[in-house]
Amino acid sequence: MRSKFVVSVIVLLVAACGAPATGRETKPPESALVGVTMPTTTSQRWTSDGENIKHNLESRGHRVDLQYAENDVPTQVKQVESQIAAGAKLLIIASVDGSALTKPLLMAAEAGIPVIAYDRLLRGSPNVDYYATFENFRVGIYQAESLLTGLGLRNGDGSPGPAAGPFNIELFAGSADDNNSAFFFNGAMSVLKPLIDDGKLVVRSGQTDFQAVTTLRWDGETARKRMEEIVTTAYRRTKVNGVLSPYDGISLGILTALKNNGYAPGQGFPVVTGQDAELGSVKSIIAGEQYSTIYKDTRELATATASMAEAVLKGRTPPQLNNLNDYENGVKIVPAFLLNPVSVDKSNYHKVLVESGYYSDDQLR
Ligand code: GAL
Repeated sequence: MRSKFVVSVIVLLVAACGAPATGRETKPPESALVGVTMPTTTSQRWTSDGENIKHNLESRGHRVDLQYAENDVPTQVKQVESQIAAGAKLLIIASVDGSALTKPLLMAAEAGIPVIAYDRLLRGSPNVDYYATFENFRVGIYQAESLLTGLGLRNGDGSPGPAAGPFNIELFAGSADDNNSAFFFNGAMSVLKPLIDDGKLVVRSGQTDFQAVTTLRWDGETARKRMEEIVTTAYRRTKVNGVLSPYDGISLGILTALKNNGYAPGQGFPVVTGQDAELGSVKSIIAGEQYSTIYKDTRELATATASMAEAVLKGRTPPQLNNLNDYENGVKIVPAFLLNPVSVDKSNYHKVLVESGYYSDDQLR
């Protein structure tokens, strides 16, 4: 009743003034300034994400301020604050630490600036309007399934594989301050835990708890050190057969640790998973070192986010939203748009990555 009254008053006021309402209902100026902040340039995926969003929004006539925080939280806070001060009409944020931006998000809300969380959920704040990402739980499922396929416990079509096990595996998760990390890990464990419980998979380090296996800032060097520590302590008398890795940068660190400790590609080399289909990892898959990765088409995510942005700038609800339940950020459920990931290994990389134009054959040589 009350909201109907408020709406009618607004409608009457707008009609009386002959001018558009202010705030989120405002028709956007032809060219709006959009602030885009990405976590780092050290990973190829984020630079592609940033460039793709920028080009998409620019081709729609908007101006874009694109910033990278180099994995430093105070830098990202400053970048968002300065975009607000510069008059941004919308913010698109892929956070370094999903819970560290509550202050600038409050400033944005007070200035009537909507916010889209990009790939990583912004946590602990009511001032997040929408979220664009991939099916993160499914990413974890795919990582675990490809680990089982690589070990021979499962065939590519999901049927039981030729191997019986038991196999020794180790587990890695992403950064604990990234909401995605638990989604990936829980997705993977939904597949692996039953096999760990019945002894087909053995984690000799004993490190199976999410907190124990996280990798701060997804750092490859941190992962290399942890893997070296594990192989030199838990695998003195036996070999590790597989490693669940949540991200290509971490996978490359793990591969280095293995190679530094007597494991040689081609000779019972452990099955190592990944994510993002970064160039170095795809080359490593072709060379028979990394086993698999998860491809997430960042071009599609950028395009979808740009059209969500366009709708939001026009004061509309983005029509793409396809998940209204799963992304609770500690304060509210953030309406989300989720894209599908694709599992990639040596058998399908050409079809998925080259034939789709994501990489050229030349880039992969
Ligand atoms: C996650 C993202 C992954 C990977 C990782 C490390 O948030 O979903 O695709 O990029 O960060 O950058």
